Amino acid sequence: MGDFSERVAIITGAARGVGEAIAQRLAKGGATVVVADLLEAEGRSVAESIGGHFLALDVTDADQWDQVAKDVRARFGSIDILVNNAGILHMGTLANTSPEIFRRVLEVNTVGPFLGIRAVAATMQEQARGAIVNVASVEALSGMNGLSAYCASKWGVRGLAKAAALELGRHGIRVNTVCPAGGNPAMFGPWFERMAPFMDETLAYVEQRAMPGVVPIETIAEAVSWLASDASGRCTGVDLPVDGGSMAGAWIPGFNTL
Ligand SMILES: NC(=O)c1ccc[n+]([C@@H]2O[C@H](COP(=O)([O-])OP(=O)(O)OC[C@H]3O[C@@H](n4cnc5c(N)ncnc54)[C@H](O)[C@@H]3O)[C@@H](O)[C@H]2O)c1
Repeated sequence: MGDFSERVAIITGAARGVGEAIAQRLAKGGATVVVADLLEAEGRSVAESIGGHFLALDVTDADQWDQVAKDVRARFGSIDILVNNAGILHMGTLANTSPEIFRRVLEVNTVGPFLGIRAVAATMQEQARGAIVNVASVEALSGMNGLSAYCASKWGVRGLAKAAALELGRHGIRVNTVCPAGGNPAMFGPWFERMAPFMDETLAYVEQRAMPGVVPIETIAEAVSWLASDASGRCTGVDLPVDGGSMAGAWIPGFNTL
């Protein structure tokens, strides 16, 4: 699905995890893929493996964004797709979330996509064509204790996407958001040890989805690919959960026996 030949795509946070899977998927569809990430060695290696290109980018830096947009346009002729995928997690109660950490999470997860949309919008407007896809989370559709900064940042991305969709729609630019449950376990790395005492209840949460189990990153990449492609031509301002039915509601095992 998705013919991306002659399409140029910038994917942030594509040095690993979900971003890497998205980069592979769009490259398979024929896109010229730009892997934009802080992690240089990993990013270069992903770019090389898919026949793409690496550009160093800190998504919180407006000047770097402008430079990336300028470079991509100069080297490849257009910017057709932007996937705002780079993100960070902080796990901690309100008391264990400092104002600095809260601001940092917003800076990467919300301000980053804002700067990205701002940087590519002029080129996309000139082309009268563009697809922007943000990778948010199911925590952009509901809340979760211990994730105040992350939830706030991901709800912010959804709001940003809707305003941008309205502002840019008449220029042929679509802005959509994918809301996955699950991604790369590496994102939880720093918290694994502290989560160990309650790993059973964490896994039980995953098992109580309409479709139990972890959502594979390839499934998330497929959803992003569809929203980036012409196949979703009149979809804009959409939030697409890719969550095994987490957002469908509560599942109570006994009720299936009534
Ligand atoms: N891991 C999950 O369970 C999960 C669940 C739902 C949504 N998501 C979302 O999916 C996206 C990808 O997450 P992942 O699971 O692949 O995590 P990950 O930690 O494996 O990858 C995140 C990538 O973003 C990059 N990045 C971080 N800060 C950056 C910055 N300032 N500038 C540029 N790049 C930066 C990292 O270097 C890394 O390559 C994130 O937006 C995340 O919030 C993840």
